[in-house]
Amino acid sequence: MSWIDIGSLDDVPLRGARVIKTPVGCIALFRTAEAEVFAASNTCPHKAGPLAEGIVHGQKITCPLHNWVFDLNTGEAIGEDARITTYPVRVEGDRVQIDAASIGSRRVA
Ligand code: FES
Repeated sequence: MSWIDIGSLDDVPLRGARVIKTPVGCIALFRTAEAEVFAASNTCPHKAGPLAEGIVHGQKITCPLHNWVFDLNTGEAIGEDARITTYPVRVEGDRVQIDAASIGSRRVA
């Protein structure tokens, strides 16, 4: 994989999220209480709720609009026939990096 830097780990609040703009749309970076980082679509497949405004618990995110729960490892909605796209990310030191090919670019805003 080819990794590109998308910011500091400290820019993503613990149990919170930050949105980045990419060629494939807005992607939410989620940070768990254990400081793990996941990247996934920011748009809930139910009625387009902004997932970055949801609640991070364990390795899951709960949509702020109607409480669907998504596994951040797989993107699958728990108990629903739906999923969100997930993207490979890694933390190197205090920097967060995303797989360039998965977002179709070498740059993000
Ligand atoms: S919009 Fe996310 S659960 Fe309804």
